[in-house]
Amino acid sequence: MTGELSPIDKAKFVAAKRSVDYVEDGMRVGLGTGSTAAWMVRCLGELVRDQGLKIKGVPTSTRTAELARDVGIEVISLDEAKWLDLTIDGADEFDANLNLIKGGGGALLQEKIVATASDQMIVIADVGKEVETLGAFPLPVEVIPFGWETTKSLIEEMLISMDVLGRDASLRMNGDRPFVTDEGNYILDLHLGRIGAANQLAMVLNQMPGVVENGLFIDICDVVILGFGDGRVETR
Ligand code: 5RP
Repeated sequence: MTGELSPIDKAKFVAAKRSVDYVEDGMRVGLGTGSTAAWMVRCLGELVRDQGLKIKGVPTSTRTAELARDVGIEVISLDEAKWLDLTIDGADEFDANLNLIKGGGGALLQEKIVATASDQMIVIADVGKEVETLGAFPLPVEVIPFGWETTKSLIEEMLISMDVLGRDASLRMNGDRPFVTDEGNYILDLHLGRIGAANQLAMVLNQMPGVVENGLFIDICDVVILGFGDGRVETR
């Protein structure tokens, strides 16, 4: 499955491989999105195929749904599952309190809904994702397309009033068109540098008209499995 991997892919792979130890027969499992989560889905697919593991997977994006089906995992919707035993997903950054920035892959909305509907959320990450303070990675905010420029201006004004260091928001592009999420929305990436009061920022953002969800995952993640390029794995 792996062939010759670069150190970063090896780090992602070993974290993903360790995470499937948490999956037990009969579980309903939230399947994250991104390159690390894709390794996890492939590892789960192996267990389904080779060891007869029986699980139902709830994917957090169309691309994860496609991969899960390809590797033989039974896919159901969140509403069919109603509640999940476990969600395993990647992250763009995590801090010592296991708060996260997610949404680099544009799937933050489904990812947050699925993780919140789970008994446990496990994040799998390469060592480069561990930070002292969140915010070097641009914070993704999903907004509805209607009036997005106005929403962007309102967000920028709000950032000034909150004394946040960086204040620029940029529309995420896919070539020469706006990137469109699975829900038909746009993503604004907020270049903040450093997020002092992550909880407060997350709440203020979600109160703004036009904002659907933001990529700050506060008090949602239970465990981070961290992979290193030399194959070591640590748990936070
Ligand atoms: C997608 C995400 C991803 O989990 C995050 O971007 C990490 O991706 P990768 O595992 O490719 O580094 O939040 O919306």
